Amino acid sequence: MATAEAVATAVDEPAPRQLEPSELGTRSYWDEYYQNDLDHDESEGDEATALSSHTDLESWFDDVGAPAKVLQYLTSEAFPLASRKTSCTVLDLGTGNGSSLFSLFIDGGYTGCLVGIDYSQQSIELANKLHARYSRLFATPQHRPPPISFHVFDMVTDDPLIATWWPEDGEGFDLVLDKGTFDAVSLSSETVVDSQGVDKRLCEIYPGKTAALVRKGGFFLITSCNWTEEEVIDWFTTGEMQDQFEVFGKIKYKTFQFGGHKGQGVSTVCFRKPD
Ligand SMILES: C[S@@+](CC[C@H](N)C(=O)[O-])C[C@H]1O[C@@H](n2cnc3c(N)ncnc32)[C@H](O)[C@@H]1O
Repeated sequence: MATAEAVATAVDEPAPRQLEPSELGTRSYWDEYYQNDLDHDESEGDEATALSSHTDLESWFDDVGAPAKVLQYLTSEAFPLASRKTSCTVLDLGTGNGSSLFSLFIDGGYTGCLVGIDYSQQSIELANKLHARYSRLFATPQHRPPPISFHVFDMVTDDPLIATWWPEDGEGFDLVLDKGTFDAVSLSSETVVDSQGVDKRLCEIYPGKTAALVRKGGFFLITSCNWTEEEVIDWFTTGEMQDQFEVFGKIKYKTFQFGGHKGQGVSTVCFRKPD
């Protein structure tokens, strides 16, 4: 990922349309990353503290308070789905250890159908392991197991329409979340040939793949550290993405000065898919 300083420096420069590929754009990096978490799960067997320690689960951009700010945004009265949080459908792209969904369920009261997908088998294994632990804790007369399922799925190559988790009405999800996944995809060196025979970086096809997962009138909320707020909006609303999303809201973070430039290390934008 880009450092906060690099992002701040980039604020006043022309928007880079492509990032230099890095290992964070490879599946093997993430497989190893989550395998390491699986191998060093120190809370293994410690049921008593598992519930209270869910806030300690590693969550990207916690250092700038992004997970808490996103949760506050999604549960505020101003967010249209907050009044339907017991029934709306949520999809988390590149879910990692599933922390966004566990938090949305445990702290946010989102108790509809929650689905997490990731192309790393080890990520899904880790998320399922944590899910099993929370399920044991929630299996009381007052609670039911978290209605969350996790699935191996590659955003670039796999077809959601034939996935077991695709909503029955076929219309897509009410809310789709991305925290750090477009960032990772933007660091991949891979390319695919589009229907016009043009070679494209994965970040160029990701916005269209994302839009296809959101139902009309639904929302897509993305948090990024590699792209500024303006760049995120550019990626998801211009060119081939014209008319697919409109900006619904933004989350503000503390700005900082670096080398005479002002910037915020992380950006969060909420898009709405027009009816
Ligand atoms: C920076 S991590 C963020 C994890 C999680 N969203 C969080 O906030 O903790 C990026 C995640 O994207 C996943 N990922 C990258 N490319 C993907 C793809 N093409 N399809 C599905 N998941 C992908 C990685 O395996 C990794 O879990």
